[in-house]
Amino acid sequence: MNIVEIINKKKNNEVLSNEEINYVINGFMNGEIKDYQMSSLLMTICFNGMNMEEIYFLVDAMVKSGNVINLSSINGIKVDKHSTGGIGDKTTLIVGPLVASCGVPFVKMSGRGLGYTGGTIDKLEAISGFRTNLSEEEFVRQINEINLSIISQTENIAPADKKIYALRDVTGTTNSIPLIASSIMSKKIASGADKIVLDVKYGIGALVKDKEAAIELAKIMVKIGNRYNKKTIAILSNMDNPLGNMIGNGLEVKEAIDILSYRGNKELKELCLVLAAYMVSLSKNIDYKEARDMVVNNLINGKALNKFKDMILKQGGNIDNIKISNNIIEVKSNKNGYINGINALSIGKLVMNLGAGRLSKEQGINHGVGIELVKNVGDNVKVGDVIARVYYENKTIDLNDVIESFKIEDNLVNKEYIVLGVIQ
Ligand code: URA
Repeated sequence: MNIVEIINKKKNNEVLSNEEINYVINGFMNGEIKDYQMSSLLMTICFNGMNMEEIYFLVDAMVKSGNVINLSSINGIKVDKHSTGGIGDKTTLIVGPLVASCGVPFVKMSGRGLGYTGGTIDKLEAISGFRTNLSEEEFVRQINEINLSIISQTENIAPADKKIYALRDVTGTTNSIPLIASSIMSKKIASGADKIVLDVKYGIGALVKDKEAAIELAKIMVKIGNRYNKKTIAILSNMDNPLGNMIGNGLEVKEAIDILSYRGNKELKELCLVLAAYMVSLSKNIDYKEARDMVVNNLINGKALNKFKDMILKQGGNIDNIKISNNIIEVKSNKNGYINGINALSIGKLVMNLGAGRLSKEQGINHGVGIELVKNVGDNVKVGDVIARVYYENKTIDLNDVIESFKIEDNLVNKEYIVLGVIQ
């Protein structure tokens, strides 16, 4: 077998065999296949796609490039979640405690963010002292004790994906549905949970902008999970506007606590309830309605908030010390009218410019900065009303750019509901 023949085959839109895909992944990992050859193959995949068989082979090869975490010593049906990401997405911090409070083991390895805002691990590290690097043994022990732990993904989970992703990032080959699906699912499969709930986002602030493409991505990922006998459900949700009112690491932890205290942004709360209810329903094998009642009860009675506090304490964090900057500037509306949208992408870029995100792995992150949306989509505002607050430290942004992110119009336009559908 040789890599040039394989590249030519894909270039001619032919189907690759299991042997060829394994040859590519193994060769790339051991250095026989060079970055420029892999880049070329990735680009042909961007143009010509892959069929389901090829995607299965690719996932398999990437899973086998590392370890599969053995969670068999955890009692119960273990569930995991993944979001394709977006601006202000702090759902893991809320969904984990909700699910765990219903007696369901929530096993989640998360990443640091690359892009406009931090990832779940960056958010948790805004809590002073919080340890995200527990050993596998500590992780398992904590889940057996309180059903909840969130840690950073260990090095040996699908290392082929890590190496390929780094190359995709710098070769314009990130936005291919088969490559995204196999990248996400190889890590989910290797992380060892029994069932998986995915939050697939589409819209201006999402990885996939187009709704049809997001549906295709969701369907492919559901098929991959089910093929591994890990029942998988995908929720389709909107990411045109930031999720919730807070964007920035420490601010998002604060908002998660607000939601767990049964306050805060309705849309964020609803999305978290839907995700948590599907996870509980999968684990306990009960219907969605029954699972949702359980989750809602534990949100109202404070059990979910207590779970969150337990997790923070066990992982060494101090919930009373969350990094949030004290330097705050208010942003006021220059128009009368209704907010018909808040551009998630431009808010993401502004938050990144404040220092809350990173573009390369080596870059540091500022946990205390971000933007609070004081007014949100659907609200009526008058000239001079405070619509946002900017939390800054050593970098500033142009406040006009914040104002421009708000689409304020004379009439209220009905917007699409946040949870659009379920694919299973
Ligand atoms: N997240 C991943 O893990 N992989 C992708 O390809 C895109 C988003």
